Amino acid sequence: MKIFVYENREILGKEAAKFIASAIRKNPKLVLGLITGETPLECYRELVRMCERDEVDFSQVKTFALDEYLELPSSHPYSCKSQLLETLLRYLNIPHKNMHFLDASSPNPASACQAYEEEIKRVGGIDLQLLGIGLNGHLGLNEPGSPFDSRTRIVELTETTKTYLARYFGERVPKKGMTMGLGTIMEAREILLMAHGQAKADIVAKALKGPVTTKVPASILQRHPACTVMLDKAAASRLP
Ligand code: PGA
Repeated sequence: MKIFVYENREILGKEAAKFIASAIRKNPKLVLGLITGETPLECYRELVRMCERDEVDFSQVKTFALDEYLELPSSHPYSCKSQLLETLLRYLNIPHKNMHFLDASSPNPASACQAYEEEIKRVGGIDLQLLGIGLNGHLGLNEPGSPFDSRTRIVELTETTKTYLARYFGERVPKKGMTMGLGTIMEAREILLMAHGQAKADIVAKALKGPVTTKVPASILQRHPACTVMLDKAAASRLP
């Protein structure tokens, strides 16, 4: 695991964008796993800027969203699909058919999860998976206790996650979601984990330097052969 610490979240975002752009230049057909939330916003802004300046070409890139909330219309402004379209994808030269989302509106979400796994396999697996970390150590919506070999599935959200998500959803916070499993995530050939801010400092230290345990789902990344971590100073402040 390689850990890089940057002065602030803006620089972190720019460096993460450079990292992703360089992966796309090496492999123009990159299969890229995408995240939502606060964490990737600067990085996505920079990728959009790079794409506008023709510094990176997304025309053959394929993307897979890491997770989605259930019981929301996919057009909801804070569905993961809407967030990804609005903060990144609609500004890139990436064909619609190359964008993959977990379909929360499916009449059978469990089989939609299964189909997602198959689609990931069909395109040859994820080359680069972006990740953020939740305050409770979750990856995607793999909450504490999620098995390390879990696959894409429906999950219940914990109180910590629901409280956090109230910033977007107010009183109508989703109770369930769909998420790639920890096993699915660990099969990505390369991982880029990002975190910023003091609030993440404790969980970042536990995940990166504490015991590998399902109580801290992100701790499994210690076992990934090609995981890069990018932090700002605040998020890195509790690392030994
Ligand atoms: P955040 O969420 O990017 O909004 O901090 C991360 C997460 O909960 O996984």
